[in-house]
Amino acid sequence: MDKFQYGFTRFGFMSICIGSIALVCLISRFSTSFFDYSLQKFEFSFPETELRRNVYTAGEENRVVDSRDIVSQQILSIRSSNSTKKLSRRKMVEQGLVKARASIHKAATNRNTTVFINDLPNPEIYRNPSALHRSYLEMEKRFKVYVYEEGEPPLVHDGPCKSVYAVEGRFIMEMEKRKTNQFRTYDPDQAHVYFLPFSVAWLVRYLYQGNFDAKPLRTFASDYIRLISTNHPFWNQSSGADHFMLACHDWGPLTSQANKDLFNNSIRVLCNANSSEGFNTKKDVTLPEIKLYGGEVDPQLRLSKTLMASPRPYLAFFAGGVHGPVRPILLNHWKQRDPDMPVYEYLPKHLNYYDFMRSSKFCFCPSGYEVASPRVIEAIYSECIPVILSVNFVLPFSDVLRWETFSVQVNVSDIPRLKEILTSISDEKYEWLKSNLRYVRRHFELNDPPKRFDAYHLTLHSIWLRRLNLKLP
Ligand SMILES: *[C@@H]1O[C@H](CO)[C@@H](O)[C@H](O)[C@H]1NC(C)=O
Ligand SMILES: *[C@@H]1O[C@H](CO)[C@@H](O)[C@H](O)[C@H]1NC(C)=O
Ligand SMILES: *[C@@H]1O[C@H](CO)[C@@H](O)[C@H](O)[C@H]1NC(C)=O
Ligand SMILES: *[C@@H]1O[C@H](CO)[C@@H](O)[C@H](O)[C@H]1NC(C)=O
Ligand SMILES: *[C@@H]1O[C@H](CO)[C@@H](O)[C@H](O)[C@H]1NC(C)=O
Ligand SMILES: *[C@@H]1O[C@H](CO)[C@@H](O)[C@H](O)[C@H]1NC(C)=O
Repeated sequence: MDKFQYGFTRFGFMSICIGSIALVCLISRFSTSFFDYSLQKFEFSFPETELRRNVYTAGEENRVVDSRDIVSQQILSIRSSNSTKKLSRRKMVEQGLVKARASIHKAATNRNTTVFINDLPNPEIYRNPSALHRSYLEMEKRFKVYVYEEGEPPLVHDGPCKSVYAVEGRFIMEMEKRKTNQFRTYDPDQAHVYFLPFSVAWLVRYLYQGNFDAKPLRTFASDYIRLISTNHPFWNQSSGADHFMLACHDWGPLTSQANKDLFNNSIRVLCNANSSEGFNTKKDVTLPEIKLYGGEVDPQLRLSKTLMASPRPYLAFFAGGVHGPVRPILLNHWKQRDPDMPVYEYLPKHLNYYDFMRSSKFCFCPSGYEVASPRVIEAIYSECIPVILSVNFVLPFSDVLRWETFSVQVNVSDIPRLKEILTSISDEKYEWLKSNLRYVRRHFELNDPPKRFDAYHLTLHSIWLRRLNLKLP
């Protein structure tokens, strides 16, 4: 515990005031999910009465932000000079959202592909390409994220940028960028969402005691929320609903249990999106688990002619450890059973994992200890159709992508019939799935700097959609 307490002293956590102010928050989510583009009948009413009833409850004048930061200080002085202006700024944020909703709503029924075809050249892979395109443009135009400045690296404002949890560090670093990040605002009154920039992977690295106890991580998250909710009025105003945390580490969900509102209200952006562990598609976001080697995609998975080699000699491939609920079933039935379907527990040293992926038509992607697996993305990069074998896994970007156009989902109970199921897929269907994979790849890539419609931006877009779905006082 010593290391942990030391961490807190450095953070300068204050003693917590006793006594609380009762804040009535009238927060609700739209009954029909805004981001479910398959729906044509969005219904978001912003009744006048509701708007008038919910007066902005300005808390104490905000003392926080970071005194090291000149920009923040300027904002602070502007902010404290006139609270009437503050009220109207807040109102403008909500009114901007009303306009965005209306324009997306309108686009949702538009069948004219010329509007979006340049940005989204293969409309088939999206639930509603026109609505996605419009809401992406609205995001580029309006979306502002306030990043809390409390805390110090490495636990906060930092994260891993390579290996399996790379997406966690890459997202945090990108959000933290001061000059080039168009989505960051230093004025919390103009923000749509508030980011809690701690890294669960680094909490595990620096606070975890090696005893399978996630308590130090929860204590940290809970203290962090106490700090920002004492220093700023925003957390209390929405009970955390317009705040988000992000974690690719398996223990993201466990860490989010630190605070009831963080778990139940906030937008949790998680690789480990297990819907039977409280992952709620209405408010939470699946983060794609993208494995990077030294910060880059493995050279073997970069686009190359070899990827196009066809026909592929193997029907399907898997190699990996036996853990979690699904893999034992797969290995029991198929481990080294069929020469068409190489299935290994651990791949013998002389064989190359990515060679197999690039020589197979389908790649099995069973859940391991957790629902998410970097395999899904590696399969996409290898143009090997992912065969999703998992229970309760909410697939990344399934709010906008039609996974059935570039992957195959097989019920775990049908694992014994896997070969039959895959051989029954016609050549035409296979070629269609494969060509769609080529289009979808860019949505699962991390770029430095980020590119439009890549994994970073689509993650941000998923957060934007959750915020659009939220009606705040
Ligand atoms: C705040 O701004 C409003 C409108 O711009 C103005 O009427 C009011 O006098 C200002 N109040 C203070 C304390 O500056
Ligand atoms: C589709 O949109 C384009 C660009 O906005 C426009 O020029 C064209 O007339 C539209 N086509 C139809 C059939 O409405
Ligand atoms: C938010 O609520 C907590 C607990 O009720 C309270 O301790 C804190 O002072 C409040 N924050 C603000 C800025 O009022
Ligand atoms: C979330 O809310 C439910 C129902 O109110 C509650 O039972 C549960 O404990 C909450 N979750 C957490 C982690 O606090
Ligand atoms: C998903 O959560 C449920 C409930 O906690 C658990 O039983 C299951 O094993 C989890 N799935 C995976 C793959 O970890
Ligand atoms: C998957 O299998 C389970 C158990 O046999 C069954 O209850 C469920 O309906 C199946 N789901 C689908 C989508 O076929």
